[in-house]
Amino acid sequence: MKKLSIGSVAVDPPLLSAPMAGYTTAPFRALLRHFGGVGLIATEMVSARSFVYMDAAGDGHPERLWGVADEPRPLAVQIWDNVPETLEETAARLVSEYRVSVIDINFGCPAKRIAGSSASGSYLLRDPQKVGDLVGRVAKRIAPTPVTAKIRLGLTADSINAADVAQAVEGAGGAALTVHGRTAAQMYRGRADWEAIARVKDYLKKIPLIGNGDITTPEEGIARLRDWPVDGIMIGRAAAAHPWIFHQIAEGLAGRPIPPAPTVKEQHALLLHHFDLVLDRFGEEKGTILMRKWACDWSHGRFGGRAFRAAVSAVKDAASFRDLVDRFFSDAASAE
Ligand SMILES: Cc1cc2nc3c(=O)[nH]c(=O)nc-3n(C[C@H](O)[C@H](O)[C@H](O)COP(=O)(O)O)c2cc1C
Repeated sequence: MKKLSIGSVAVDPPLLSAPMAGYTTAPFRALLRHFGGVGLIATEMVSARSFVYMDAAGDGHPERLWGVADEPRPLAVQIWDNVPETLEETAARLVSEYRVSVIDINFGCPAKRIAGSSASGSYLLRDPQKVGDLVGRVAKRIAPTPVTAKIRLGLTADSINAADVAQAVEGAGGAALTVHGRTAAQMYRGRADWEAIARVKDYLKKIPLIGNGDITTPEEGIARLRDWPVDGIMIGRAAAAHPWIFHQIAEGLAGRPIPPAPTVKEQHALLLHHFDLVLDRFGEEKGTILMRKWACDWSHGRFGGRAFRAAVSAVKDAASFRDLVDRFFSDAASAE
């Protein structure tokens, strides 16, 4: 099996869960740990500017950091901004107060709020030197805690520059690079280009390359790691619907048979367990609304899924949510 270390942090197995805003919350991270097989778990992206402002105003810290202080390690926190002092200050506090294992900086987000008015995330890909400067400043400030960068291939198909950005990240003291094999202009359209991800490897001399994009099954994950010159793989959306995918891949990598997905009955219990964690954290109203998308993800490809998604998208209270989920899973079990 390939061995992956990010600085002094061993990522074993070399499987990373992708940061996903609105998804990789503390309850979801707990679910990932329940199944195991993830070498490194990441939080949602956290605004460094909000961290600094809230802290200065005595308003605590961003909600997205909830759970981080007490969770098992290793844990990566992803931050975003474009001002070196803001990123440095946030990273330094996350290391000293939260003792996070890895700081990841977001250079891939194409959303308007981040890459548009905030000139952050994928906006920064237009200037590899600036990316290097930001990584270098943070790396120097929080050494020996590793700093990693998550990028896309470039802004557009005509301006693919992941190789330049990779060299800037490595030259500045970054400890690993994750490449999502799409351009920012693609958003989530088209297919992730693993050939383009692999080409980046030629430009990295010391630090590991993590490939990301469109891994949907354990078999695909194993094949990506085996067939491409990447040191690790990162999975996002497939893990939201199938948080056991890392365990399945890890078993396959260890030369054992890929275990089956949990049974419908087990998945039913897991979804309700996740709901309890979310209710504890967010309360009934917000927690029920947040769980709608999870329930929808879990229902894809199942008998009665479409009608279930329509109903669950309107649900507002915990009892009705549980009732819908119970009915859906018992129908799904009898259809199997
Ligand atoms: C709902 C959603 C939220 C995301 N949030 C983040 C984020 O906070 N930070 C980040 O770097 N990428 C974010 N991404 C991108 C993922 O980390 C990942 O790069 C992308 O989904 C491709 O991987 P996948 O095909 O395995 O999902 C997000 C993606 C989705 C679908």
